[in-house]
Amino acid sequence: MRSWNKAWGAVASVFMLATPILGGQRPSSSPRPFNLIQWNHGKFVYGADYYPEAWPESQWGKDAEMMQAAGINFVRMGEFSWVKMEPEEGHFDFSWLDRALKILSAHGIHAVLGTPTASPPAWLYAEYPDIAAMNAEGIRYRFGSRRNYCLHNPHFLAATRQIVTALAEHYKDNPAVIGFQIDNELGNPYCYDNYCLTAFQNWCRDKYKTLDALNRAWGTVFWGHTYTAWPQIPLPWNTLYGVHNPSLELDYDRFFSDSTKNYLELQARILRRIAPTKAITTNEMGMFDAIDYSRLNTSLDFVAWDNYPMFDQNQSDYFGPALAHDLMRGSKHNQNFMVMEEEAGLPGWTTFWGHQAPPGLYRVWAYQAVAHGADGVCFFRWRTSTYGTEQYWQGILDQDSYPNSRYHVIARMGKEIQRLTPILEGSHVVSQVALLVSPDSRWAFHIQPLTRGFNYNRQLHRYYDAFRRRAVNVDVTFPQDNFSAYKVLVAPSLFVVNSELVRKLTQFVNHGGLLILSYRSGVKDSHNVFTTRTLPGRLAPLAGISIHDYDPETTQPQKIVMSDGASYPADVWFDILTLLTARVLVTYGENFYAGQPAVTINHYGRGAVIYVGTESPSNRFYDGLVKLAARRAGLTFGPKLPTGIEMATRQKPGEKIIFLLNYTGKPQSVELGTATRNALTGQTEPVNVAIPPYDLRVLTQR
Ligand code: GLA
Repeated sequence: MRSWNKAWGAVASVFMLATPILGGQRPSSSPRPFNLIQWNHGKFVYGADYYPEAWPESQWGKDAEMMQAAGINFVRMGEFSWVKMEPEEGHFDFSWLDRALKILSAHGIHAVLGTPTASPPAWLYAEYPDIAAMNAEGIRYRFGSRRNYCLHNPHFLAATRQIVTALAEHYKDNPAVIGFQIDNELGNPYCYDNYCLTAFQNWCRDKYKTLDALNRAWGTVFWGHTYTAWPQIPLPWNTLYGVHNPSLELDYDRFFSDSTKNYLELQARILRRIAPTKAITTNEMGMFDAIDYSRLNTSLDFVAWDNYPMFDQNQSDYFGPALAHDLMRGSKHNQNFMVMEEEAGLPGWTTFWGHQAPPGLYRVWAYQAVAHGADGVCFFRWRTSTYGTEQYWQGILDQDSYPNSRYHVIARMGKEIQRLTPILEGSHVVSQVALLVSPDSRWAFHIQPLTRGFNYNRQLHRYYDAFRRRAVNVDVTFPQDNFSAYKVLVAPSLFVVNSELVRKLTQFVNHGGLLILSYRSGVKDSHNVFTTRTLPGRLAPLAGISIHDYDPETTQPQKIVMSDGASYPADVWFDILTLLTARVLVTYGENFYAGQPAVTINHYGRGAVIYVGTESPSNRFYDGLVKLAARRAGLTFGPKLPTGIEMATRQKPGEKIIFLLNYTGKPQSVELGTATRNALTGQTEPVNVAIPPYDLRVLTQR
C-alpha cells in the first residue's frame, strides 16, 4: 500500500490548476499598534504575579531583590484585594500598595494593578446579598470563593464604579503603575436572577425591536412558544427535560458575552477618563468559549491571557497552548500580546493536580508564548500561598522562599530575554494560513451537541496541528475579520453562517484563496435555525456539492479511501456528498454509502474549496490534506520536525526569528538547510541545529 502522502500527491497532480491559485503574493496579516516593550520602558515584560499583602512587609525588600536578580521587571498585583483597598464602604486605603510599589520600583519593577472586582468584600455581600449571582436552580451563591457576582446588579455596579474610580484617582500619576488589569478572568458565572432576566428581555427588545420579529427569528411557532409581551421572555433554565429553544439559547450566549463586555467597558471608561496614560488589559483564558474575545477585546490596549500548558498536555500536547496563543493574538487582529499568568509550577487547588513538569519545560513553555507573538510573560505566581484554596498551586518559589530549580530556570530566561529584546522588538508572527473560529458555531454546538464523538476544538486542532507539524504559522481569524491577507483559510464545522460571512468567503475564494470546509457547515442561520436550502446551505455553491444524506453514527467502523486504494479510519460524522461542480478526492469505504464521495474539491473563481465530509483520527490524513493545500496555494513548508519539536517564527523587515522548541527529554535536531545565527550566543549555527532536552534555540536569519 502506498503512503498517504504519496496518495495525496497523486490527487494533487490530477487537480492542480494550470496556473497557481494565487496571482502573486498577498499582503501579510495587518500591522499592530500597541508596543508592549516600549510601554515597559524598553524592556520585554518579564514578571511575576505578586501578592505582597499576604506576606510580612519585612519580606518585601528581599522579594524585590530576588525578583530583580531573576531579571523580573514587572508585577501584577491587587486583583483580589478589594477589602484591603476599601476596608469599609467609601473608605479607601492604598497605603500598603504604595509601600509595596515603592520598594518594587526601587528595583526597576513596574506594575499592572488589577481592579479588584474579582473578589468583592464580605461587607458588600452583607449589605447587598443579591450582588451574588443566582444559579440555574434559583439559589443565590453566598460570600466565599470569588467572581460569583451578578453582572446586572445595580449595587454591584455602583460599588464597582466607586472602587475603580478610587484606584484610578490614586494611581493616575504614579509612574510605578503602567497599567490596569480589569477584574480577573472575566466570564463566569451565568446568573439567572431577575436583574439578568430583565436585562435579557431589554437586550432582546434592542435587537429585535418587535415581538413579531423575535417570534419569527426564533421560530416560536414550534411547541407554541409564541411570546405576546416582552416580560414573558424567559432565561434558558429550569424547563422539563432541560431543553430550550436553541435560538433563544444562542441569543442568551450572545447576551452573556455582551454583558461581560459591558461590564469591562464600564471599568475601562472610568480608567481611561481618569488615568489616560495607563494601558488597559484583562487576563483572558485562551480557548475558554463563554466569551467572544474577538468582540470583548476592542476596548483593550492589548490582550493578556493565562497560560497553563499542563491542562493541555493530554489533549494535544504542545499544540494546545500553541493554538490558544494564536487565538488570543487573533482576537485583537494579531497585535502582540502578553501572558499575564504563565505556569511556573505544579497546579493544584485544594488538592494536587497533575504531574510536576521538568523545571526546564517551564522555560520552553514561556518561550513558546514568545514564539507565538508574546512581548511579555508574567509567571503565576511569585510564591506559593500558605493560605486558602491555592496552597498547592506552585509559584516560582515555594512557601519557604528557597531559590529552587524553577527560580533558577526562570532567572536564566530573565537574563536571556533582555538580550533578545532588541531582536524581538518590532517583530510579529506573519501567517499565510488562517483558521476561522466561529463563536456562534461553538455556542450552537454546545446547545445542540452533534454526536458523542464531536468536539469543536478538536476539529480546529486536526487542521491547525497538521499545518504546525510542517512549521507553517497559523493565525486565528473570526467571522467579522478581513481574510484577504491569507492564502489558505480553514473553517472547520462552520455550523452557523449568515449572508455577510458567505459573501466574504466567496470573495476570498474568488480572489484566489483556498478555503477548507468540513462537515456540518452551513447548517444554521444566525438565529440557530436550520436552513431550508440543500446542505451545505449557503455554502453549497462554493463547495460545489450537495448533501442529501448523512450518518452521524459514531460506533460503526468507517474508513475513507484514496484514489490509489490507501485507506484511513474515519470516526465522527459522515456527510455523503453529491457532486455538483466539485470533483471527488476521497471516498467512503464502508456501509451503504461505500464508494460515495467523502472529500471533494471545487474550483471556484480564481480559487478553490475543499470540503471534508468527515473526521479521521489519523494525523496522516490531515498531513496529506495540508500538503495538497500547500501545493495548490503556493505555501512553503518548513523543515521536517521530529515529534516533540515545535518551530515557530516571528519576523520584521529584513530579519526572521526562528524558535525551535524541544518539549521532550531527549536531544533532538532539526535540519534547517541553511545557516542561521544563534540569537543568544551570536554564533553561527550549523544547518543541522541541535536542541538539548527541554531546551530551545532562538535563531535569526537575514
Ligand atoms: C487563574 C487565576 C489565578 C489563579 C490561577 C491558579 O488563572 O486567574 O488567580 O487562581 O488560576 O489557580
